[in-house]
Amino acid sequence: MSDITPETRFDHAFHKAADRHERVWIFFTIALLALLFAGTLAFVAVDFGVVAKGAGFYKSPLTPADSPLFKSGKLVKTGPSAYSAYVTGKLWYWTPSPIHVPQGATVTFYVTSADVIHGFEVQGTTINLTAIPGVVGTVSYTFDKARIYHIVCNEYCGIAHQSMIGEIIVDRRPT
Ligand code: CUA
Repeated sequence: MSDITPETRFDHAFHKAADRHERVWIFFTIALLALLFAGTLAFVAVDFGVVAKGAGFYKSPLTPADSPLFKSGKLVKTGPSAYSAYVTGKLWYWTPSPIHVPQGATVTFYVTSADVIHGFEVQGTTINLTAIPGVVGTVSYTFDKARIYHIVCNEYCGIAHQSMIGEIIVDRRPT
């Protein structure tokens, strides 16, 4: 064991420290990557609304669109200033439209499609989810401003995609 000199002992200690240092940084890098990956997934799922919270999935693509609430394009009053709107996207319009609600109303939208995939986006709000046949997506929003909101389709769906515009009319609260 004559090769253990003060120099090699120093080398050994140095390598051990370097090793520890590297392990910490490798762990840090992997943790950061995992965080970014999870964050991206969560952002896509929540923000782009493809998997809207509380979405319902059906076996047949036209089950929701053919059900009475969607078929008649119902706006149902569910509380003093709460409403449920059953909205269907079709080539190339939204039904019901216009949707009339009073200022301050909280509307829960149930959104589906009767044919292809459409994008349900209400301009000037955070509402943005995908209208998919066989799926009912849900989103709630409180309309505090009295104005007209446009529902636009933000998923290319054919020749008249750009004309697929609906309306939400928020009436001024009586003073
Ligand atoms: Cu519907 Cu684009």
